[in-house]
Amino acid sequence: MSTEHKKYQIAVLPGDGIGPEVTDEALRVMRSASVCYGFEVDTPSYPIGGAALDAGQDVLPEETLQACSESDAVFLGAVGGPKWDTVAVEQRPERALLALRKALGVFANLRPVRVPEGFGSASPLKAELVDDLDLIVVRELTGGIYFGPDSTNDESAAKEGRAYSTMAYTRDEVARVARIAFGLARRRRSRVTSVDKANVLAVSRLWRNVVSELHSAEFPDIELEHLYVDNAAMQLVRRPRQFDVILTGNLFGDILSDLAATLPGSLGMLPSASIGDGRGLFEPVHGSAPDIAGEGLANPSAAILSAAMLLENVGEADAAAGVRSALNKVLASGLRTSDMHAPGTTLATTVEFGAAVAGEIAVVSGSRNGHSEKTEHSISS
Ligand code: IPM
Ligand code: MN
Repeated sequence: MSTEHKKYQIAVLPGDGIGPEVTDEALRVMRSASVCYGFEVDTPSYPIGGAALDAGQDVLPEETLQACSESDAVFLGAVGGPKWDTVAVEQRPERALLALRKALGVFANLRPVRVPEGFGSASPLKAELVDDLDLIVVRELTGGIYFGPDSTNDESAAKEGRAYSTMAYTRDEVARVARIAFGLARRRRSRVTSVDKANVLAVSRLWRNVVSELHSAEFPDIELEHLYVDNAAMQLVRRPRQFDVILTGNLFGDILSDLAATLPGSLGMLPSASIGDGRGLFEPVHGSAPDIAGEGLANPSAAILSAAMLLENVGEADAAAGVRSALNKVLASGLRTSDMHAPGTTLATTVEFGAAVAGEIAVVSGSRNGHSEKTEHSISS
């Protein structure tokens, strides 16, 4: 084995609103992790979304796409905002995101939702319902109704006064995302809930059959349950802790993951990873929040946790664990960004919070390596 440091090429797409601020903190943390855990990261950034439009470029510039497809992983801040709501449909920031997902072939979107013991009080639900919650939504991301083959475009819809968007899945599209969900469940609590609308939709009956077949053939050790999407939405609110891995299609996953994301009480804590056959795309679940952009109010935790998912995905599992434990320590120390600030906690800006996590990594990794240098940002002294 070579003693040379591994070097990862990471295409960074900061995007719009709070995207650049939280991305800066995720990169600060990633760099700290690279020093402490012995690897290198190259993190050039590229325009996307409204920022690209403002620079006179395409919403997803060719150069950006090219850089992403040559990278080991892609990190994205957030795209969109009211400023670009009036641009033509094909130049809307959302389009850039859909096109990027499709181009990267990231067919599985992983959205973990965790509420650490004792943090349930921030939830809109009763604390005891969500305390110690640990579920993950696996959403199919490059098929279904978002990419339906026979859908009207806006012009023909306007002309004919009739519009339709089709939800279509093939056996292979369902099997490959289901395989990821079952694989994840094996490393968690061995339970998959597949969500569909098989009582009404043919596409959901195919979904259900394929998931069941794959389960019997390859994952009989995993407990599988099927729920209709309306019931799943209700169960997520009534008894969210019953879930381990939720597997579902693109549209249902979009809706249920927002619902699940509100359970901890702040969207600012939720990371996501989109994976497929090649490089992954890592982004916080929250949007661009233009109303608070540039004021140091944004919570960089979701971006930092997305960076941890990225590190794990490229093969730096120890560094990923180090990032998570550094973040937990900073939270345990009482530091909070504005979204989670409450009596008895210490208010931090976006940068202060990111710097604290970056500093804490040196401590976390040092205790693991048996040396204990602390950086100036360390908060655990
Ligand atoms: C998400 C977002 C996107 C989606 C939008 C911005 C296209 O809501 O990542 O969940 O619907 O997939
Ligand atoms: Mn969404």
